[in-house]
Amino acid sequence: MNIDNYKAYISAETMMGPNSIRILEELLNKYPLQLAPNDVLLDLGCGTGLTSLVIAKETGAKVFANDLWISAEENRKRFVKWGVEEQITPICEDANNLHFKKKQFHVVISIDSYHYFGGNKGFFQEKILPFMQDNGVCLIGIPGLKDKYTGCAEELLSDWLGYDAYMFKSPKLWKELIGDDNRIKLVKTWEMDCFSKAWNDWLATNNNFALNDRQYFETIIKPYTCFVGIYIKLNKSL
Ligand SMILES: C[S@@+](CC[C@H](N)C(=O)[O-])C[C@H]1O[C@@H](n2cnc3c(N)ncnc32)[C@H](O)[C@@H]1O
Repeated sequence: MNIDNYKAYISAETMMGPNSIRILEELLNKYPLQLAPNDVLLDLGCGTGLTSLVIAKETGAKVFANDLWISAEENRKRFVKWGVEEQITPICEDANNLHFKKKQFHVVISIDSYHYFGGNKGFFQEKILPFMQDNGVCLIGIPGLKDKYTGCAEELLSDWLGYDAYMFKSPKLWKELIGDDNRIKLVKTWEMDCFSKAWNDWLATNNNFALNDRQYFETIIKPYTCFVGIYIKLNKSL
């Protein structure tokens, strides 16, 4: 995928943190998806729907764009403006209580959001797996802690994140938290390569959250954190 194709959409209005399209780009380059137009994909915690747009354009598949803080109506207006309302369906539901059909999705993608709701063991099996088709794929990219600091999030990140520091977990810990199941074939977690580019794009904006992040980038964010990539491949039907 060529990120330059999406520059016009990546703006102060659509960004909610480090450039989510850089994170998505790395996931899609590492694990390319081959989907047909009738295949169905979930963008979980889609925010303003920027990632949903890119997923729709890159895969050609149908996308359900689900978020909690941003209403379906607000995202629908953006999808109409972008001319993708036929391909992307906006939904506003809590990831802890989704109402999709069982085995509806070929692929679930979640960028910069899974750490808000998915950090308890068993969450994936209970709340996400039932909606995934056999042989399906889940791609997740989230901020986290470097492996060498596993278990030290509160101690290292609280000055920057306050109470939210607990959400930052290492790739090693995320592998354990995703856990296993007889429907899961493989789980891989890793420190992603897109860290500097994704952060530089965000810190260059004048968003108030970015201004705050700028103060902590050299002392906390860069030395201790990373983006955690998570790839989950399901088994073919049993
Ligand atoms: C930092 S934003 C990232 C949004 C988008 N994925 C992106 O990368 O631009 C985190 C998103 O997680 C979503 N989120 C947090 N808790 C959630 C939950 N329980 N269920 C669904 N979405 C949730 C929020 O609504 C928010 O839009």
